[in-house]
Amino acid sequence: MARPVVVFVVGTRPDAIKTAPVVREFLQYDAVETVLVSTGQHREMLAQALGAFGLHADVDLDVMQHGQTLAGLTSKMLTGLDGVLADRSPAIVMAQGDTTTTFVAGLASFYRQVPFGHIEAGLRTDTVWDPYPEEFNRRAVSLYASLHFPPTRWAASNLIEEGADPADVFVTGNTGIDAVRSVAESHEKDWFPEHKGRIVLLTTHRRENWGDPQTRIAKSALQVVEKFEDVLLVVPMHRNPAVRETLTAVFGKHPRVRLIEPPEYADFVKLLQRSDVILTDSGGVQEEAPTFGVPVLVLRETTERPEGIEAGTAKLVGTDLDKIVAETCTLLNDGAAREAMARATSPYGDGRAAPRIRSVVFERLGVPTTKETMWT
Ligand code: UD1
Ligand code: UDP
Repeated sequence: MARPVVVFVVGTRPDAIKTAPVVREFLQYDAVETVLVSTGQHREMLAQALGAFGLHADVDLDVMQHGQTLAGLTSKMLTGLDGVLADRSPAIVMAQGDTTTTFVAGLASFYRQVPFGHIEAGLRTDTVWDPYPEEFNRRAVSLYASLHFPPTRWAASNLIEEGADPADVFVTGNTGIDAVRSVAESHEKDWFPEHKGRIVLLTTHRRENWGDPQTRIAKSALQVVEKFEDVLLVVPMHRNPAVRETLTAVFGKHPRVRLIEPPEYADFVKLLQRSDVILTDSGGVQEEAPTFGVPVLVLRETTERPEGIEAGTAKLVGTDLDKIVAETCTLLNDGAAREAMARATSPYGDGRAAPRIRSVVFERLGVPTTKETMWT
């Protein structure tokens, strides 16, 4: 008898990192046929992220083009994914989070009436406009998903309040924590061995921060470097040309700023561990940093990850220049404030999300498997 086909869809760097532990888990079992499809929304960054887990896409739609609109991206992916679903007849399609790739994976599944499993489901802000367009993307796929895998109980409660059947909602922890733990244990890298002082790490790429907010973010980080002579500011630049233009314009060739190409995932994780303070608008980085006790200042007006703020591992700072400078200086000047954030426990997962997801999906597909206890 033919094995059920499980199609995983990824397109961006975080899709790859957060889906990889689940794909690797499924690949250990012959009872299902695991197919990894890339929309190619990202090119170099996706290949780099999959490479960290020894994965290659079985199908690559290769849709990335510089400067394309969200509508252009969406329409190319939808046509491409529809063809893949027609060709592979999956028993279920799985995708994570809130990227355009994930939204289109859900929509393509809906049109073909194929069950859809949503990893990292249930994150919400209170406005569909922020983050843009991710809040819309994740709300939209929740309407259709037949299995929801929220990382936390808060995310699960959002889904249930919106009408999801509790029998379809499984709290797993975030698969990104599976990824970060496994990589941190197995990889070594000594970043900036010549620098004996502190490191402030900055990442910024969000659409709603493009332009003036991103300029303020960069200028505030520069002010911090100028106040602390022992601080090296490290800025891995997202490949988006809009982001690079702003960062290179503000930082120029400052001797204590390192504008670097995005390190591959395992190296980046080591950079997180080496950092003293992290300034970021990234979702994934917010979740990973508490695993290593590194305080995070979130450079956004809203967050769909209130758990870190409540646990004290992160602070929502926004994009006001003076506020970012003041909050960063507090962490660099005040050991007790830094320690309080560093000691808080990570609320995002225990590193066992992937086997939990495998247990639920296999059960739904009628494939015998070991039953896992969900995360509490
Ligand atoms: C996308 C996601 C965002 C996620 C982010 C993670 C959407 C709408 N946005 O944003 O949710 O947080 O990825 O990084 O899904 N580029 C390259 N090489 C790459 C990747 C990107 O050159 O490997 C450039 C291309 O010019 C591309 C542009 O970056 O067109 C923007 O990529 P896009 O996927 O549209 O949006 P991101 O800002 O990366
Ligand atoms: N990351 C990476 N190299 C970098 C910057 C980030 O490997 O130079 C990883 C990071 O560890 C996290 C993920 O990429 O797992 C986050 O991706 P990004 O910030 O692009 O997207 P978001 O999480 O905001 O959607």
